[in-house]
Amino acid sequence: MPTALITGATAGLGAAFARRLAADAYSLVLVARDELRLAKAADQLKLRYGVNVEVLPADLATEEGLAKVESRLHEGVDLLVNNAGFGNPGAFPHVPVEHEVRMLKVHCEAVLRLTLAALPGMRERERGAIVNVASVAAFFARSTYSASKAWVVNFSESAANAVGGSRVRIMALCPGFVRTEFHQRASMDTSGIPGFLWLKADDVVREAMRDLALGKRVSVPDLRYKAIVAVGRFVPRSVQSMVSSRIGR
Ligand SMILES: NC(=O)c1ccc[n+]([C@@H]2O[C@H](COP(=O)([O-])OP(=O)(O)OC[C@H]3O[C@@H](n4cnc5c(N)ncnc54)[C@H](OP(=O)(O)O)[C@@H]3O)[C@@H](O)[C@H]2O)c1
Repeated sequence: MPTALITGATAGLGAAFARRLAADAYSLVLVARDELRLAKAADQLKLRYGVNVEVLPADLATEEGLAKVESRLHEGVDLLVNNAGFGNPGAFPHVPVEHEVRMLKVHCEAVLRLTLAALPGMRERERGAIVNVASVAAFFARSTYSASKAWVVNFSESAANAVGGSRVRIMALCPGFVRTEFHQRASMDTSGIPGFLWLKADDVVREAMRDLALGKRVSVPDLRYKAIVAVGRFVPRSVQSMVSSRIGR
């Protein structure tokens, strides 16, 4: 049975990846901070899909948490989903610097270190895949969040180029707005986000897995968002920022 390690596996997109991969008969390693929630998620997945599920409580913003997950990855996994992430309440430059740095640790340092921990085993076995969850925000300039996700896209493409030619795949996943706990946790006012822009986590994961199988290096699920990213390329950065800062404060 192949094994998948998913960070941020207890809610939203991570939980959707866990359901999808369990249905595909992967053994799972679930990472998040809340131990009780991890145990509950593991029980539900075992019961529903009959797969092996390990839980690995870890805070990816800490050295201890990162070392724990790196050490599990050194044992070998077939698929790594670097999904854990969050938005900080408030707007730049009013967000406390320690919160911004925490975001960079989870969105960038953890993605870098966990990728580096998983890759050698995958290259040795000449198979495996890494999905780094970025965001459509990566293509627009909108504070530390979008900057960190732009890093994820650029890093994933660079890493994919570096392993190019082998059967190891690395893909950045760039969803638009998805109904998860993300916005509430970030105290975001979502009233300005039009209904048609909301995606379902299971649909995003389905398209991501299809794009991964196709060998894409950057996946932007849903035609609506493919169009937004394509049009965005022709819009001046200043206009992009003005529009994007009005949607979802
Ligand atoms: N929802 C959207 O509209 C959207 C759009 C584009 C991209 N994304 C990206 O998608 C990813 C998943 O977000 P989501 O929307 O599914 O959010 P979510 O529903 O809030 O779930 C976040 C998950 O990450 C875990 N997590 C948060 N901080 C962590 C830390 N320091 N260490 C370990 N685990 C941590 C949470 O569990 P614990 O709290 O127990 O740790 C939870 O399992 C993120 O990278 C986000 O930036 C989301």
